[in-house]
Amino acid sequence: MHADSPPASEPRSPLAAQVREALGRRNIVMVGLMGCGKTSVGRRTALQLGLPFVDADEAIEQAAGRTIKEIFDEHGEAYFRDGERRVIARLLRSAPQVLATGGGAYINAETRAAIADCGVAVWLKAELPMLMRRVLKRSNRPLLQAADPEAVMRGFMTARYPIYEKAHVTVESQDITHDAMAAKVIESLHEYFSHNAPDAQS
Ligand code: S3P
Repeated sequence: MHADSPPASEPRSPLAAQVREALGRRNIVMVGLMGCGKTSVGRRTALQLGLPFVDADEAIEQAAGRTIKEIFDEHGEAYFRDGERRVIARLLRSAPQVLATGGGAYINAETRAAIADCGVAVWLKAELPMLMRRVLKRSNRPLLQAADPEAVMRGFMTARYPIYEKAHVTVESQDITHDAMAAKVIESLHEYFSHNAPDAQS
């Protein structure tokens, strides 16, 4: 398992270059529910910006030498959440980069504060049918090993959307290519920085 992508390279477009300059030594942190595309879109966003990409769930698995499902099975959710908080705090120190987090990470107030300190949170907001279509393709998510995974997901939408809404930037997830979604993320970041980091804009 490799959590990291290649190191920084040149941004792929003038818009990407502007976003990267405005970002400075901060991170772009992808947040949102399971299946919203944090890893796949985050990876393409990093490529377009010429930044390294890191996936927090993969880093947790590397640190533990176990899959997330095994961590849940052997030690329970509270143990996983503690490790998740510590691993993300460590990863956030390597800015600038694009960091994809697991769906529950941003719900932790300490992690949210750490992200706000040195990063820009991007919420990929997706509708229930899209999320379900994607998560049902795999059986690696312990929280969805339930009799009615759609009801579980609906519960997460109710509980977590008010918290994801605190993210600096919201991008609606669509059924388009990962590269096209990444382009939308970069446009939204450009818009955000044009209002929030005027000194850093060229
Ligand atoms: C979780 C989401 C998962 C993983 C774990 C818990 C959650 O990550 O961290 O299974 O609480 O929503 P993804 O969002 O990448 O699937």
